[in-house]
Amino acid sequence: MRILRTIAEVRAAVASARAEGSTVGLVPTMGALHEGHLSLVRRARAETGLVVVSLFVNPTQFAPTEDLDAYPRHEEQDAAAAESAGADILFAPSVDEIYPRGFATSIHVSGVTEVLDGARRGPGHFDGVATVVTKLLHIASPDAAYFGQKDAQQVLVIRRLVRDLDLPVRIVACPTVREPDGLAMSSRNVYLDSESRVRATALNRALEASAAAVAAGVTDPADVVTAGRAVLAEAGIEPEYLELRSPDDLRELDAVDGPALLLVAARVGAARLIDNRILEA
Ligand code: PAJ
Repeated sequence: MRILRTIAEVRAAVASARAEGSTVGLVPTMGALHEGHLSLVRRARAETGLVVVSLFVNPTQFAPTEDLDAYPRHEEQDAAAAESAGADILFAPSVDEIYPRGFATSIHVSGVTEVLDGARRGPGHFDGVATVVTKLLHIASPDAAYFGQKDAQQVLVIRRLVRDLDLPVRIVACPTVREPDGLAMSSRNVYLDSESRVRATALNRALEASAAAVAAGVTDPADVVTAGRAVLAEAGIEPEYLELRSPDDLRELDAVDGPALLLVAARVGAARLIDNRILEA
């Protein structure tokens, strides 16, 4: 595996792989790699010829009050993990390489960015994600790019962006990888102390309780959400949101009569955690 720092080096590596007939897969990450990230790398390894993993803690998607400075950074460990999962190139640029002096462009996707995390974290969050992902797609020009369903709203933002800008890339959403007790893996789980780590399992248990309600025939979204809310309340968690939405465009649902996406965000101890699950009527 090669570690590359510049856009020019990545373009050259991709061009020479393509000249040999190889396809290209891209896995964008902010590092602190765990099994969730590595599942994306393995999927890219299985489906494409040249696997590019990007490692860039993107400052523009953090609000000033958020954890940009505290965000875990361990490049050496990440490089070893990416390599063992099958990466060919680790693209780990500096902030100046991605945002040179005078950088003045932003990609704004409307609609799906206006609710849930877009409303809670502010419009700058998804603008930052959309802008950096657009840049990474232009830099690596992959055939396929791999994202986690863990960040369900992010996947919808990226799918919209790719359609609207006619970007020639296949977006692959991969299932959420969980700890044995059900907690969705996240780079931010390191912020949890041992007491919060136990309470954090309530997020997935809440999603399961709502899924069980739907499986038992409950169709009123308010009642489905109430089942999950009770599990959170027992763990002393007041969610930022726990909402049922359309899996296609995040519009609110009048009834659960087909697949529905249940999304949760909550502060647990020092961490802000998100999770989601598709509920099948
Ligand atoms: P990051 O949080 O590092 O996540 C990188 C990718 O890994 C995302 O597509 C995310 O959904 C996926 N991922 C994280 N936890 C996962 C889990 N438990 N199971 C499966 N996939 C998981 O998301 C970002 O970085 C950034 O916003 C980025 C897209 C890189 C743009 O900066």
